[in-house]
Amino acid sequence: MEINFEDKTVVVIGGTSGINLGIADKFAQSGARLAVASRSQKKVDEAINTLSKYKHHAIGYAGDVREYKVIEEIFKKFNQQLGDIDILISGAAGNFPAPALGISSNGFKAVVDIDLVGTFHVMRSAYPFLKKPGASVINISAPQAYIPLEFQVHVCAAKSGVDMVTKVLAMEWGVEGIRVNSISPGPISETEGMKRLAPTEEILNATSESVPLKRIGTKVDIANTAMFLSSDYASYISGTVIPVDGGWSLGGASYLSSEMKKLFKI
Ligand code: NAP
Ligand code: COA
Repeated sequence: MEINFEDKTVVVIGGTSGINLGIADKFAQSGARLAVASRSQKKVDEAINTLSKYKHHAIGYAGDVREYKVIEEIFKKFNQQLGDIDILISGAAGNFPAPALGISSNGFKAVVDIDLVGTFHVMRSAYPFLKKPGASVINISAPQAYIPLEFQVHVCAAKSGVDMVTKVLAMEWGVEGIRVNSISPGPISETEGMKRLAPTEEILNATSESVPLKRIGTKVDIANTAMFLSSDYASYISGTVIPVDGGWSLGGASYLSSEMKKLFKI
């Protein structure tokens, strides 16, 4: 067995920056055909440019995962241009640190709509175009899905829902040979998510110390896991949530709440 994605079709929703672009880049490097989508046309264009230095010219469209019809149209266009999907990564998300009392109804709804409802929209509209049997679907989750973190009520609610979508669809779609899993990244360097949750050098260093492996993770750590999960080596893995966090979720993650308390002077 080998890990080979030559000429495979890989779609990454929210794949225009950060962790998700890191995943797209790794698959493109290995010879896959890439398609990405996110809200900003500028970010889509930049990602296409980055990914097209490899074997195939990447494609991409701008759209908001909160708008079902828009996402459905994007999947139709991907299908016309690239055929059925071998690997689907769904990672669009929004986050900001705030205490529950500092979040309006619309603020809570915005994050749940992007992370959770958006994940459902992506799954639901991609389904007709997933290779059956054989597709690997990966939702990008977070430790907030199973660790209650203060100042993250919206994200905890949304990401725990994402992991349930993963598990239920692994059950419903398993019969057709589609595997569905979540990757739960720990703190990952040079990402928008970490900039928001650990905005100072001091918090970043302290976060690193709170990880059992004593380092912040990299985008490549997550991309490697996505490749493994989409390879034949993982052909009997479905319905799982895989933490890729240096052991952070075993205890260190709650440390971030105490740092955020200082930020909010609570
Ligand atoms: P990021 O660079 O901001 O990635 C988010 C991506 O989603 C961007 O491409 C963004 O592009 C897109 N997006 C946001 N809202 C969208 C919407 N409504 N519709 C369509 N696309 C949308 O952040 P990141 O930190 O790398 O996070 C990537 C993923 O990893 C997220 O699922 C996050 O929850 C997860 N995660 C991150 C960390 C971390 O340490 N950074 C830890 C755990 C989990 P546009 O702005 O163009 O829409
Ligand atoms: N604290 C409290 N509430 C906040 C907030 C903060 N730091 N940032 C935004 N909100 C609230 C807004 O006030 C608004 O509520 P209101 O209408 O009652 O005032 C609500 O969230 C929606 O904000 P808006 O900017 O209109 O939403 P959007 O749909 O354009 O953006 C976000 C969604 C807020 C999640 C935005 O941060 C985003 O686009 N994030 C994507 C990138 C990202 O978060 N990357 C990290 C992924 S882990």
